[in-house]
Formats: sequence, structure tokens, C-alpha cells
Amino acid sequence: MKKTHKIICLLLLLAMSAVACCVPASALAFGDVDGDGRLLAADARMVLRASVNLVTLSEEQKKAADTDCDKAITAADARNILRLCVGLGNTDDSCMNGMDGATLVGISQKGYRIYVKNGMTYVDGLLIANKTYALPSSYNPGALLNECYDAFDKMQTDAWYGAGLYLYEISGFRSYETQQNLYDRYVATDGKAEADTYSARPGHSEHQTGLALDVNSLYESFADTAEGRWLAANAHKYGFIIRYPKGKTDQTGYIYEPWHIRYVGVEKATKIFNSGLCLEEYYGLTSVYAD
Ligand code: DAL
Ligand code: ZN
Repeated sequence: MKKTHKIICLLLLLAMSAVACCVPASALAFGDVDGDGRLLAADARMVLRASVNLVTLSEEQKKAADTDCDKAITAADARNILRLCVGLGNTDDSCMNGMDGATLVGISQKGYRIYVKNGMTYVDGLLIANKTYALPSSYNPGALLNECYDAFDKMQTDAWYGAGLYLYEISGFRSYETQQNLYDRYVATDGKAEADTYSARPGHSEHQTGLALDVNSLYESFADTAEGRWLAANAHKYGFIIRYPKGKTDQTGYIYEPWHIRYVGVEKATKIFNSGLCLEEYYGLTSVYAD
């Protein structure tokens, strides 16, 4: 091929990839008109400006902005978004977020929608179990869910063959009843206040989700072992986060647990890992018992 042809081909390829990266990967979520993944007053402002023709919205943005589905962008849509932002709204956007049948119960401090479906709470598609959000006692997947099990299996294999380190599960799925027995034992030994710093009350444990497990050791010193260091540095590549990181007790509600990993999928785990935030901070959620 002539040199000029090669240059033209290269320019064409560059132009094509530039176009591809500008096309939105997925439709904008309900109310998230500026497409930053959050529902904030800025979205309401944008809609209000659009309603009086101060800004022009794309077709994609119009769909996200038309909160009352009347095919017009008006101040009513801006009001709906604003109400959702401050937790007042009850506009049902569940069908637009893969959460059919779910109820929108609020907006997190960081603008994420909080849904409840079958008594379970979801944020950004993730099942949430912490001190604020409980699971029904009847929720019992019986074992680690496949996606979590498979991801751990792969991570275990890579740690072994890649680094000569053995990661193993010491506690995976725990039913409501198992957690009840465990928590009661800890309360009997250490008292309720102390037990609450390291053990979840029944219904509040991530182990009941089937998406969390403890590996290798239940001592903080695990963080300084080769296995603990490898886990902290690599878990996100397999979709896990260290769920109760060091220095985050005020947010998570629990002491540092370098051994407890939660499966959230590679994309979210990588974002959370890179943010340096714990799950509660990342999504703007609380973790506090009601009583
Ligand atoms: N140790 C964690 C917080 C649990 O009991 O689920
Ligand atoms: Zn655990």
C-alpha cells in the first residue's frame, strides 16, 4: 500500500473510533439528564432551562427528562426531579432501571436511586445489606450465588498459579438463623455494644446475601500477610471489594475486616477501588441501626 493510502486509512480509523466513543453506551437513566450517573438538583435545573428553551436537549436527554411521560419537557418534570433529589418524590422509574416491580423509596446523599423489591434494598443494581438496610428473614439463597462463587474460584486460581498464594473461604453464605446464633453468642460473650462493632444483627449480614465471604483469617493481621496484601490489591479485578476497609468504621458501622469481601462485579468494584471510598461513601448511604 502506498504511504498516502496508509495515512488515509489511519485517519479514517481514528475518525471512526472517535465517533464510536461519543455514542452513549446505554440510555440515560430516569431524571439523570446530564448523564453523570446521579440524580441531583443540577438535572432539575437543566430541565427547567430546557422547559423555557434556554438549552436544547438531545432526544436521549428528553427521554430522561420527561418524568411524567407526557411527551413534553415542562416545569413539572423539573419539579419531579427536584422532589426525587430531596427524597420527597414517589415517581416510579423502576421500569427504566431494570428494576420492574420495585418501589423507589428514596435518593441517596449522592443522588443514587434507592429501590425496594421483595423487601430487599437495591442501589445501582446492587443488593444492599448493612445496619440501615436489612434483608427479610425468609431470604435464603442457600449458598453463595453463582456469580460470586465463580469469581472467587477464578481469583483463587489466579492467586495460586500467579503468585503462589492460597486463598480459601472460611465463611461464605450464612442464613438468617445462622447469623442469629452467631450474633447471640457474641452478645453473650462481649455484650451488645461490642458485638455490634464486628458482627451484624440477623437480617443485616452481607453473608445472608450469598454475595460475600470471609477468606483465610479473621484477624486484622491478615492485612499484613502476602495473601492479605494480594487480596487488597487484586480483589477488584475479580469483582470484589474489601467491604469494611480500614478507617471507615464511621461509614460502614464495622471495624476493619481485611478478610471480608463482597461481590459487586468487576466494573463497580474497580470504580469503588479507584475511588478509595467504602461502599456507603461511594453511594452516599448510611449504615446505622434504627434502634
Ligand atoms: N462481620 C460482618 C459485619 C457480619 O457479621 O456480617
Ligand atoms: Zn464476613
